[in-house]
Amino acid sequence: MEVAWLTDPHLNFAGVRAAEKLAMEVRERGAKALLVSGDLGEAHDLEGWLSVLGSMCGAPVYFVLGNHDFYGSSVELVRGHVREACEASDGALVYLTGHEAVALTERTGLVGHDGWGDARAGSFETSPVMLADFMHIEDLRGTREHLQSKLHELGDQAAEQLQGPLREAMERFEDVFVVTHVPPFEEACWHEGKPSGGDWSPFFVCGAVGEMLRSEAARRPGVRVTVLCGHTHSAGEAWVASNLHVKTGAARYRKPALQAPMWVR
Ligand SMILES: [Fe+2]
Ligand SMILES: [Fe+2]
Repeated sequence: MEVAWLTDPHLNFAGVRAAEKLAMEVRERGAKALLVSGDLGEAHDLEGWLSVLGSMCGAPVYFVLGNHDFYGSSVELVRGHVREACEASDGALVYLTGHEAVALTERTGLVGHDGWGDARAGSFETSPVMLADFMHIEDLRGTREHLQSKLHELGDQAAEQLQGPLREAMERFEDVFVVTHVPPFEEACWHEGKPSGGDWSPFFVCGAVGEMLRSEAARRPGVRVTVLCGHTHSAGEAWVASNLHVKTGAARYRKPALQAPMWVR
């Protein structure tokens, strides 16, 4: 069966017509699910974009949120509103963060979490990188020390909340898809054909989720784990272990597009 994947559409820059066009493309392809790996819009318009996708694409939308989805608000508030929207959607929208494993088919399971650039990879102390996140997301405003501890906390929370559903999925299924916004490994943090490395890694890699994924994949070498992520807007693939494959999706501002179709057994 075909599954569609969309990452980093930033629909606030692209507009309603572009969102509707994406949804119609999913419907026309006959995809049985749409997976979205975050950065749909910003806090004030996020639910509107989810509603366009959920009502028009003719398949359930399984999604996680990206850093931009929290702009103008706080992590807890946005997650709370999104969960309410999912409850009211009658199964059309499923927020994977904190959600139990989902069966895509009898053999293939799905889990996910927003993840976060958690200041674990690269060198946070010496990185000159300043992201708009630090101004526009309430949780991240404050001193550099506060920022570091909050990023650690968000990464740890992601790894903890994802571990249970992942274990459950790896017991039940031969193939498991993990949808997350932030690449969990430096080698999957692509920028124009190369891993971005050094100064970018603290904010573009979720180290805690990566460590957890590596150890869970090693516990069950017979189960294939495919991670779908975004955030860097540059495409690439990395094999982190023989049963742990990471695909990072491409994206362009104002030109949102589905990734290549995926076939699930
Ligand atoms: Fe993005
Ligand atoms: Fe992002």
